[in-house]
Amino acid sequence: MPPSRPEPVPDLDWSPARARELGEAVVELWGELLDRLSDRPVSGSFAPDEVRAAVALEVPDEPLGLDALTEHLRALVLEHSVYIGHPGFLAYVCGAGTVPGAAGDLVAAALNQNLGGHRLSPGATEIELHLARWLARECGLPAGSGGYALSGGAMANLVPLKAARDAAAGAGVRFEGLRGLPQLTVYASTEAHVVIQRAADVLGLGSDAVRAIPVDQRFRMRPDLLEEALERDRTAGAVPAAVVATAGTTATGAIDPLPEVAALCDRYGAWLHVDAAYGGPAVLADDLRPLLAGIDRADSIAVDPHKWLYAPVQVSLVLVRDLQRLADSFSVEATYTWRAEEERRGVDLSQLGPQFSRGFSALKVWLALLAHGRDAFARRISHDAALARYLGELVEERPDFELMTEPSLSICCFRYAPQALKADEEALDRLNERVMTAIQKDGRVYCSNAVLNGRFCLRACIVNFRTEAEHLELLLDVAAEHAGEIVG
Ligand SMILES: Cc1ncc(COP(=O)(O)O)c(C=O)c1O
Repeated sequence: MPPSRPEPVPDLDWSPARARELGEAVVELWGELLDRLSDRPVSGSFAPDEVRAAVALEVPDEPLGLDALTEHLRALVLEHSVYIGHPGFLAYVCGAGTVPGAAGDLVAAALNQNLGGHRLSPGATEIELHLARWLARECGLPAGSGGYALSGGAMANLVPLKAARDAAAGAGVRFEGLRGLPQLTVYASTEAHVVIQRAADVLGLGSDAVRAIPVDQRFRMRPDLLEEALERDRTAGAVPAAVVATAGTTATGAIDPLPEVAALCDRYGAWLHVDAAYGGPAVLADDLRPLLAGIDRADSIAVDPHKWLYAPVQVSLVLVRDLQRLADSFSVEATYTWRAEEERRGVDLSQLGPQFSRGFSALKVWLALLAHGRDAFARRISHDAALARYLGELVEERPDFELMTEPSLSICCFRYAPQALKADEEALDRLNERVMTAIQKDGRVYCSNAVLNGRFCLRACIVNFRTEAEHLELLLDVAAEHAGEIVG
């Protein structure tokens, strides 16, 4: 019997003409979104079951037509989404999403490079490495430094902490695990992001291995108390593996005293990791760069372009002083990725991190940098910080509001505090919780919260190039309006 030769099955292979038709419809929708973004409510009151009923279509056996596809996407985009790019969106630390960045994501997906191997992605790998080297240089790291892209701050902190763990424990830990080793400890301020504890958990150190170092009145790590903790642990036989300094805390934008922390790392032989997931891009702005002095002494830095470089989610960068440290911590041999000796050229990013296949998330950052230029980013980052200071001044001018701490970087924390309630902290907490919930449902602006010294505050974080002074004035007006209705 001759082999039975399968007939072609071309269903999934759209012609370029059809691809263009879909592309044009999608670009049209994108344009409509941009046209209407400022006039749409930032958010709304989305009931999960109603949203599910509207968007979770049955998977069809047969294709949907172009009209049905665009209608579905249009409903998702215009009716069932929260607009992080809306000028009134001031919550969490979510970059607004650049327009060239969105185009970069489309091209990256269309091109479909796999950045696990240089031979699968020559241009893309070189762009990603170049982008990381550029940012490492902007942070003052020396020649030989570099890094690559990951999905977000959680990963960009986990990966260098793995390298720090391995450097402290010795290469054997990769094969034998932590058995028989002295306790490895990590130090971070009480204001550090929770992903640091989760990283310690994932790395088998346990989240208790992260020593929570108290902060000063401006929410910056106290170096004297860091020193005490390092000394206490060393005396008890533990090995201080890493200190995580935060350059731009999530709640208030505080920057830990990097030079003092770096000096202690030198003294105790600990890896200095700087979580600059949010604050890192401040190095681009002349007026803010001095605040991050000392970042150049880091062994590793996490920076999230999807925060203050305004890239669409998701993309972060891990930067290391010595790229070899990541190879030491992550390289593996696989029989199924063999290459002839003469073909072993270029960096295989799958050898430097936890992922094997990797997408081209760096392109959205790169394209935006090329399209806008470095100076436009520097100007806007500086402007965001000026806006946060302006909001702080507005708050101080209004007797019914209270500033909870001086604005730092582009974050301002405040609360509604009418004279009649000033002495009742519990009542102010409950009131501000309700005010925040009301603002989030209101649709004109959108903020989130911080808890500072146990007290609930409203928090605006400006990492949005569409936000201007009028939106901050509106935030206070909307907050006062809802507070007035709640207090009655
Ligand atoms: C300082 C800091 N580190 C880490 C993270 C976690 O980043 P991601 O949400 O991108 O994982 C955040 C998030 O806001 C952050 O502000």
